[in-house]
Amino acid sequence: MSENQLYFAPMEGITGSIYRRAHHRIFGGVDRYYAPFIFTNPKGKISKKDLLEIAPEHNEGCWVVPQLLSNCAEDFIATAHTLKGLGYDEVNLNLGCPSSTVASKGRGSGFLGEKEALKAFLADIFDKTDMKISLKTRIGLNRADEFDDILDIYQAFPVEMLIVHPRIRMDYYSGKPDMEAFEKASARMPFPVCYNGDIFTAAAYGRVSEKYSDIRHWMIGRGLLSNPALCREIRGGDCASREELADYYHTIRDEYEVRLQGNKKVVFLMKEFWHYISWILSEEDRQEIDVLMHLRDGAEFFRKAEEIAANCTVVKGQGFHSEMEVHKF
Ligand SMILES: Cc1cc2nc3c(=O)[nH]c(=O)nc-3n(C[C@H](O)[C@H](O)[C@H](O)COP(=O)(O)O)c2cc1C
Repeated sequence: MSENQLYFAPMEGITGSIYRRAHHRIFGGVDRYYAPFIFTNPKGKISKKDLLEIAPEHNEGCWVVPQLLSNCAEDFIATAHTLKGLGYDEVNLNLGCPSSTVASKGRGSGFLGEKEALKAFLADIFDKTDMKISLKTRIGLNRADEFDDILDIYQAFPVEMLIVHPRIRMDYYSGKPDMEAFEKASARMPFPVCYNGDIFTAAAYGRVSEKYSDIRHWMIGRGLLSNPALCREIRGGDCASREELADYYHTIRDEYEVRLQGNKKVVFLMKEFWHYISWILSEEDRQEIDVLMHLRDGAEFFRKAEEIAANCTVVKGQGFHSEMEVHKF
């Protein structure tokens, strides 16, 4: 059992309101859902598309924390103000996105390379935003030894929580998380620090949370995409059942069909869904999912996916990349 707080990581293009609602209803076990980033805007305007993701009426029952991607304090403050008007009291700043279109413009992980600008930005937003501000950070843009200077900057502000994904930008999501860097953050920061990275099974969570027993906040991304019952398992509950997976699949598929009204995009999204879920299924199911990934025709795809949903077998203890035992923590 765990008294720690467990958070669903923001995953752009995947963990939107449709996904969150279905996850919360069927599996639960998650204390907060951090929403994928939205861009800020000088007038604080939030697009209709983004509102479908973050407006409270589309997130019934879920504790959501919206995330902003910005390097302009004025835009951040205006957009945070709009979020406050929607009823939110915390906003998260993305300082980790590695994608070249984002980082090359000095946003996300790119902002970590512009330390003076980052300091001035944080001074402004902490001064003028009437909300709690949490940060989600990598440990550097190009090198892990940048992290000391980055922590010096963060330390000066009333940060609600610092979520650390201990990789540099060029690592994207591979390689071993730099636990020494994470330890530095947890030892030095005067505010709560949250660990994020490569927790793919309840066993891995058990090991890492035992090692870092003073850490109360844990964020999980790909582990939950692959095993939606992971947080429930961590809390001593059952692993996912076939019926739950089928319900999860049908709910998400049906809601995307209504929202997107175009077969192709729904097929793409549901391929991604099965790609992640395949990690917790039997070897035979994974071969079937391999076939599914190559189907282009919508009707054929949905027929095959239905077959998999009705017959698949969950293997308890498996998770994203688990058989490779990537990191033993
Ligand atoms: C497809 C994808 C989309 C992501 N989108 C976001 C995002 O919008 N905001 C963010 O802060 N991190 C984003 N991330 C990073 C995750 O939140 C998380 O930090 C990362 O996956 C490492 O955690 P994990 O090992 O538990 O998956 C994304 C990652 C992936 C793979």
